[in-house]
Order: sequence, then C-alpha cells, then structure tokens
Amino acid sequence: MLVVSTIADLRRALARAPRPVGLVPTMGYLHEGHASLVRRARRECAFVTASIFVNPTQFGPAEDLAKYPRDLPRDLAMLEREGTDLVFTPSPEDIYPKGFDTWVDVGAMTKRLEGEVRPGHFRGVTTVVLKLFNEFRAERAYFGQKDAQQVLVVKRMAADLDTGTEVVVCPTVREPDGLAMSSRNTYLKPEERKAATVLYRSLCHAQELCSGGERNAETLRRAVRDVLATEPRARVQYVSIADQATLEELDRVDQPALVSMAVLVGATRLIDNILL
Ligand code: PAJ
Repeated sequence: MLVVSTIADLRRALARAPRPVGLVPTMGYLHEGHASLVRRARRECAFVTASIFVNPTQFGPAEDLAKYPRDLPRDLAMLEREGTDLVFTPSPEDIYPKGFDTWVDVGAMTKRLEGEVRPGHFRGVTTVVLKLFNEFRAERAYFGQKDAQQVLVVKRMAADLDTGTEVVVCPTVREPDGLAMSSRNTYLKPEERKAATVLYRSLCHAQELCSGGERNAETLRRAVRDVLATEPRARVQYVSIADQATLEELDRVDQPALVSMAVLVGATRLIDNILL
C-alpha cells in the first residue's frame, strides 16, 4: 500500500494504476462503515484508493473540527488489511493553498435538513469532493447511505458537472444494537452511548407503522418524535420524511421516502436515516 500526501505524488502514482480505479473519500478515524466501502471497491475495481482528510471547510465555526478524532496509524493499518492500494493524506495547505477562492455550491437540495442546521456544510463537502474527483479521476467513488443527503448532493454535483466518476452508494453499517457506526460515536459517554440507540429504534418504529399501512407523513413524524422523546438525553434537531430524490417534505408516503433525523445526545450530534 502506497501512502502519498502531495498532489504531485498522487498524480505520479495514479499514472501507473490499472483501471478501473475506485475511490473511498474519508475523514479518517475509520470504522466498519468505512471498511465496507473499501471492500465493495475492492470487489469492483482493479485499483482501490482512499483519502483521509479532515476537511476544514465543511465544519461550521462552532463545530468539532479541532477535536475531530484522528488516528492515522490505525487508519492506515485498517486500509492495508482491507487491500487498499493507495492512500492520499493531504494537509489543509495541499487542498486549500493560499488564495484558494473557488466553491462548488449545489442548489435547493443543500438548503434543507443538514444544510439548514449546518449552513455552508455542503459547500465544503462538494468543493473537496470535486477536487478529489479531479485529482483521482476514478471510475467509481464509494459513499455511505449513512449520510443520505450527502449522497444525493454529491450525485447531483457529479451529474451536473460531468465529473465522469460514478457515485456508488453502500448500505449503512450498524453496531449490533442498531446504532449507525460513526467516527463521532467516540464522543459518547457510556450512558449516552446507551441512549443513542433510540435513533434507530425510532426509525424502525416508522418502518413498522408504514408496513402496517400508515401513509400519513405527519403521523409518522410524530410517532418518530414520540419514540425519541422517551429518551431524556436526546434532543431532536429535525425529523424529516421527505421524497427520496428531492428531499421535499411529504404529506403522504405514497412514493419512496427518506426518514432522516439529527439528534443531539448529550453534546454529540448524531444523524441517521432509513428508506421507506
Ligand atoms: P466520513 O464521515 O469519514 O465518511 C466517509 C464515508 O463513509 C462517507 O461516504 C460516509 O457516508 C461513509 N460512512 C460513514 N459511516 C458509515 C456507516 N455506518 N455505514 C456506511 N457508510 C458509512 O463523509 C465524510 O467523511 C466527508 O463528508 C467526505 C465525503 C469524506 C468529504 O470530506
């Protein structure tokens, strides 16, 4: 496994790479969710690459950039174990050199949900992801359904800007008790870790009601909030039942719908979702 940290070294290494190339963009502190993306890429691509970059521009001023967990040696060991061929670990100055002033701004879809609570977040995500797409020129890039809105936004960008990289979406990997794996789970204190299972339980409740024939989206939203309210450590930021493609809030669930939420458990912000 080759580890490079400058764009010049990356270009040199990629020039010799067999095709197709698969790219797994990450911010590090890797877990089984990330590993599942690498494994999928390994199955489908001749050359598997990953990036580890805690992207400062997607964090708001009051967010956790400074304390975002990092463990490069452990991440590299995991990537090597999973059969990664090349890892790119740039510094902020490599990605955002002095004078950097060009941004990728996807439209309406980025103003909803995460975009509403975290203004500017998706601008940072799409800008760095487009740069990675340009640098790697990979045939495929692998993203997790865990970040459902991110997937839709990146797909929109890839289609609108003719990136030539196919966006492949992989299922959310969960802990045995249902908590979606996330680098941020490490912030949770033991009691909060237990409380955090309420997110997935509330999503499963919506799934059950929907399977039982409930189609009223507001009834479903209220049912999800009622489950979340049983956990005093959980503070809801949003609960959404939206069209799976446009993220417009639904009145009725007569089409594929995304149930998504952001919940603070203690001081830790967690997101999760399921498709109905
Ligand atoms: P990060 O949070 O490190 O996630 C990297 C990729 O792993 C994303 O595509 C994310 O959806 C996926 N992922 C995270 N947890 C997962 C889980 N439990 N199951 C399946 N996939 C999971 O998302 C980012 O980094 C950044 O925004 C990035 C795209 C790298 C741009 O900076």
